[in-house]
Amino acid sequence: MRFFIDTANLEEIRKANDMGVISGVTTNPSLIAKEGRDYAETLKAIAAIVDGPISGEVKATTADAAGMIAEGRAIHALDPAHMVVKIPMTAEGLKAIKALAAEGIPTNCTLIFSANQALLAARAGAAYVSPFLGRLDDISQPGVELVQTIAAMFANYTDLHTQIIAASVRSPIHVTDCALAGADIATVPYKVIEQMTKHPLTDAGIEKFRADYVKVFGE
Ligand code: G3P
Repeated sequence: MRFFIDTANLEEIRKANDMGVISGVTTNPSLIAKEGRDYAETLKAIAAIVDGPISGEVKATTADAAGMIAEGRAIHALDPAHMVVKIPMTAEGLKAIKALAAEGIPTNCTLIFSANQALLAARAGAAYVSPFLGRLDDISQPGVELVQTIAAMFANYTDLHTQIIAASVRSPIHVTDCALAGADIATVPYKVIEQMTKHPLTDAGIEKFRADYVKVFGE
């Protein structure tokens, strides 16, 4: 499983990129709005930092396929080598995915909450599907089971090349569970990446090595 970072915060993206652990970025309208910067400029700035797929979502105000296709083309044109167009899972969204795929524009079908939605998006031509596991957990449905079901389903069909991005990841245990469930990618907030680096025994070990070193060799 690879890692993307799920944020529009440039500082967090730089830090995670410097660690060498991320190979892409996902954003959504809420994440970009939180940063208080221009929508398109933010996506361009992200694409200049990370050399990998950068998901930029069509505006939350566009619901029809024609509008999503037009916006999708504009998002892709910001940085054709990196930009992936994030499209919500609706009937209109599927039409947009089909049209953009035909133009060679990769899409990430977002707001996936069922295996059938994932299968439809894959058949429409989505490069990625994003099941939101944390939001399912929020309503007492096991989100990781959805990732597992989609992975098992896609594995039945050798002609399906759509990758599964486990999204709405909220904790380090989600990450482990997604890897075991067969997600291709987990898109993870910076805070969770930081949490994943930590273990109390690592801290205790570093402190003991330091103390033993200083006792004999000095500071
Ligand atoms: O980018 C989509 C997704 O990861 C959102 O996560 O925590 O708002 O459910 P969350």
